[in-house]
Amino acid sequence: MKKMLFLLAVTTILVVTSIPSSEGHNITKILAQHPEFSTFNHYLTLTRLSSVINRRLTITVLAVDNAGMSSLLDKHYTLPTLKNILLLHVLVDYYGAKKLHQLTGGSSTASSMFQATGAAPGTSGYVNISDHRAGKVSFSAIDDAEGDSPSTPSSMFVKSVKEIPYNISVIQISGPLTSPIAEAPAAAPAPVNLTESMKKKDCALFAGLLLSIPDVEKTFDSGVDGGLTVFCPIDSAVKSFMPKFKNLTAEAKQSLLLYHGYPVYNSLQMLKSNNGLVTTLATEGAGKNYRFTIQTDGEDLTLKTKIVTATIKGTVVDQDPCAVYTIDKVLEPSELFKEKEVEPPAPEPAPAADAPKGQKEASSPALADGPDSAPADEKTADDNAAISRTVLSFGRLLAAAASAALVVAVV
Ligand SMILES: *[C@@H]1O[C@H](CO)[C@@H](O)[C@H](O)[C@H]1NC(C)=O
Ligand SMILES: *[C@@H]1O[C@H](CO)[C@@H](O)[C@H](O)[C@H]1NC(C)=O
Ligand SMILES: *[C@@H]1O[C@H](CO)[C@@H](O)[C@H](O)[C@H]1NC(C)=O
Ligand SMILES: *[C@@H]1O[C@H](CO)[C@@H](O)[C@H](O)[C@H]1NC(C)=O
Ligand SMILES: *[C@@H]1O[C@H](CO)[C@@H](O)[C@H](O)[C@H]1NC(C)=O
Repeated sequence: MKKMLFLLAVTTILVVTSIPSSEGHNITKILAQHPEFSTFNHYLTLTRLSSVINRRLTITVLAVDNAGMSSLLDKHYTLPTLKNILLLHVLVDYYGAKKLHQLTGGSSTASSMFQATGAAPGTSGYVNISDHRAGKVSFSAIDDAEGDSPSTPSSMFVKSVKEIPYNISVIQISGPLTSPIAEAPAAAPAPVNLTESMKKKDCALFAGLLLSIPDVEKTFDSGVDGGLTVFCPIDSAVKSFMPKFKNLTAEAKQSLLLYHGYPVYNSLQMLKSNNGLVTTLATEGAGKNYRFTIQTDGEDLTLKTKIVTATIKGTVVDQDPCAVYTIDKVLEPSELFKEKEVEPPAPEPAPAADAPKGQKEASSPALADGPDSAPADEKTADDNAAISRTVLSFGRLLAAAASAALVVAVV
């Protein structure tokens, strides 16, 4: 029995250490060791494809050297078009050098991330990999919506640059893949208007509060291009909070609103795998004030201040570098509210009517921060989140790219 428990403990430790963490591969770092790919690397970063690649497991990057990239750049594509072309160079499966030389039937059709964006019609966006005689492997984009005559020129396998089975494989090919569909002019995604999108997703009151203080709105807007995650309380939550809000000084009102902005882009999966204290737009400089804790709680993601625990309910926008999520409560920082004003725990947003005042005064110490689950359980929950992260973030990419605007998601 004891032996079994010991084995179980060892297995648990092994599982825990081999599970995906936030420290996965880093394509920027991998390519930085090879100066001949510096241009390719630069454009992966510029198009933000590098973060997409880093968030995915089981992926193959077909890298093109600086000469190949300069032939591509000579065509003066816009950045969104260049992004589509580069998406074609990222295959959503693992192809190491060995697998490439052992393709069943001599060839394989691989799905690229361009195919996965939804921008590619029919079979375009797939890459035909063929293992020819004499060990030569060719890659060509299958670019025909109807499925016949795939006759785009091929690029040849040059060498394996880095293989981390089965996370990521980086392979050099002789030149960029060509595809008239990927090369077609692509529109840049419509810019996100925070307040407009909030209004459409049950956050009209919070949007109204942001718009009522121009300095606050400006602060949020200026984060839209540089990285921002906003947690907007749904209308019923803001409505019941209004008496308290009106009671705040002008300065405190600003801080309260800014407290709902986290100046870093986060997908839901990133939030799940990066639990911990976050600095908000209300935090002063390198200060430690106006922070809250993000915690994965089973399937839920909660935001905890010392006063309230809010739960993320849905996605308003997730368009890297900006994301907006709805939450079921207004976040009350301990800098502005007293700890005893703890609200009764409410898993679902209270329907329009508020609980009577008296009830709200009742403090519930159990909410404070008792470690209610064993560390092992917590670990498992986090690990599961990390695994589903890869699958979900890909789905998110699809959706984001397909609609290029608003994405409704169920948490
Ligand atoms: C594969 O990726 C996971 C998650 O990012 C990481 O934990 C693991 O160490 C990686 N495997 C290797 C061999 O690097
Ligand atoms: C990846 O590596 C680059 C260069 O070493 C570094 O600047 C960047 O912060 C890293 N990205 C992540 C997500 O760790
Ligand atoms: C892939 O390329 C090979 C050789 O170039 C060709 O024979 C084969 O028909 C192609 N497959 C597809 C699905 O296009
Ligand atoms: C977003 O829309 C609002 C109207 O709801 C407008 O006042 C504001 O200027 C817009 N913001 C940006 C950055 O365009
Ligand atoms: C408004 O502030 C006063 C004084 O600080 C306090 O007594 C009162 O309870 C507050 N009202 C609300 C609704 O928070």
